[in-house]
Order: sequence, then C-alpha cells, then structure tokens
Amino acid sequence: MKRRIWALPALAALAAGGVWRSEYERDHFVVEEAVVKSPKIKRERTLVFLTDLHDKEFGEGNRRLLGAVRQAGPDLILIGGDTMVVKPGRAALKATQRLLKGLAGICPVCYGNGNHEQRLREQQETYGDLYRQFLELLKRNGAEYLSDSSFDFGEDIRVSGLDIDEVYYHNRVSRKMGAEYIRRHLGEAAEGRFQILLAHSPLFADAYGSWGADLTLAGHFHGGTVRIPVLGGVMTPQYQFFLPCCGGTFEKNGRFLVAGRGLGTHSVNIRLGNKPQVVVVRLLPEDGKKKAAAGRKRMRKGQDG
Ligand SMILES: [Fe+2]
Repeated sequence: MKRRIWALPALAALAAGGVWRSEYERDHFVVEEAVVKSPKIKRERTLVFLTDLHDKEFGEGNRRLLGAVRQAGPDLILIGGDTMVVKPGRAALKATQRLLKGLAGICPVCYGNGNHEQRLREQQETYGDLYRQFLELLKRNGAEYLSDSSFDFGEDIRVSGLDIDEVYYHNRVSRKMGAEYIRRHLGEAAEGRFQILLAHSPLFADAYGSWGADLTLAGHFHGGTVRIPVLGGVMTPQYQFFLPCCGGTFEKNGRFLVAGRGLGTHSVNIRLGNKPQVVVVRLLPEDGKKKAAAGRKRMRKGQDG
C-alpha cells in the first residue's frame, strides 16, 4: 500500500519533467551539418535545409531561426515542405509569410511541397483561397516553387521538387514507389549536374536513388517524436514505430538521403531527445577517382540551443 502511495507522485513528477523537457526542446533548435562530396560538384556550396516548421517560430518574427540561417552563410536555401499546419479549422499563412519574407534577402530559396501544402491545393472546398494566397507569397518573396518542376543552380546543380500523391502518405496502405513514378512527375534526372531532389517523405529512398537523385532532402516524420540513443525515433506523427529513416543521413551506392527531423510539430506536440533541426549541407567537389562519400557530420548548437 505504501509503495502505491509513493508511486503516483513519482509518476506525476516524471510526467511533469517530461512535459517540461519537451517544451524546452521544442523551442531550442540545433544546427547540424552534413558534408557531401561528388565529382559533379564544381565548386564548394553551402545549402540550408528547413523542413516541417508547421507554423513554428523561434523568437519574434522567427528572429532566432533567421539569424541561424544567415550565420550559416548559405548559397541556396531549400524548404522541404509542411511549413504550415493545414487541418480543418486550423490553416493560416502568417508564419509562412514571415519566414519567406525573412529568407528572401539572404540568398535564392527553393520551395518543395509537403503533404500540408498539397492539401491546400487539393481541398480548396475546405481551405478556400489559401492556396492562391500561398502562391502569391512565394512569388512576392522570389521563392522558386518546385512543384513537380526543377531549378538549375549555377553550372553544376539541379534542384527538383517532387509532389508525392497523398496515398503514399497513408501509413496503412503500403505503396511501392519506383523510379518510373518520379520520371512521370519530373522527367529524367539531370545528366552531368549534381541532382538534388526535394521529396517530402523519406520512405522511398530506393526510388529516389534509382531515378538519379544524388542527394534527396526529406522530412515529414519529425525525427520520430522521441529519440532514444541507438534505437532512433520511437513514433512518427502517423503512428509508425521505430522507422529507421525518420531522421538522419543515409548513403547507398553513392546516393545520399538526408531525412531532416524538422523544426515544428503538430498533432503529437512532443519532442524528447529530438531538438528541432536546421540542416546545413556542405557540397564539396571531389576528385573523380575517389568515390563520393559523406564526410564528417557534426553538430553544433543553434543560436540558443
Ligand atoms: Fe509532412
């Protein structure tokens, strides 16, 4: 009986500690760096990859996040989608507007769709004029909208943004994606250029690689909500458990996938062992004789991480 009396307050204290820690983490991002080398890269570039903000802002007007992006000194900023939350009764563009405005003065911005942007487009009977307003924001702030389209950057890089049909996001339908699907959406991968693919879901890395993506940037799974050392992400917002690809940098046959842990949350508003993440990718030229390889990956704290 005595044990039970103590167990309840102990559990309550543990839960309160978890809630406090999660609130802290949700507001303190880290900047993580990945290095990708390829003979296709003609000169060094720095990319900043931001995904899954879901309306999250760090400081007034997103001051802290914009400061960290500026500090990284990017040549190109890539947005992986789900910048906003789009749900019935909850869909707005204010935070997206402030983000795009803040990024506009830094360097060129490419914007790929997540499932939330696609919802805006496909469910206009629910979300009214918001998709048109979103397109207007992109245009006004000079962002390159990559909705099943591509953008050539310099003489050696192509960035393509893939729209993934909604059925591929349903966790109860196991859909297989092949390179042919991507070809139907984007045509052939670039020849001779380093091909970057913005594909919101990291689930189809094999298809992305066999299509010809040298580097795929994805998000969607928010790092798996709670991350445990060695085991990785526990649960995605779609209730998939221990998905290996829900966060991290992966390489297969010289093709890279960066699955960003994202910056915001929605539905399951928890982050434990899983701080929001700004990804900085250093693209480096490499001697053609050497095999393309991911170099060091290090972590440093964000502005106030
Ligand atoms: Fe998503």
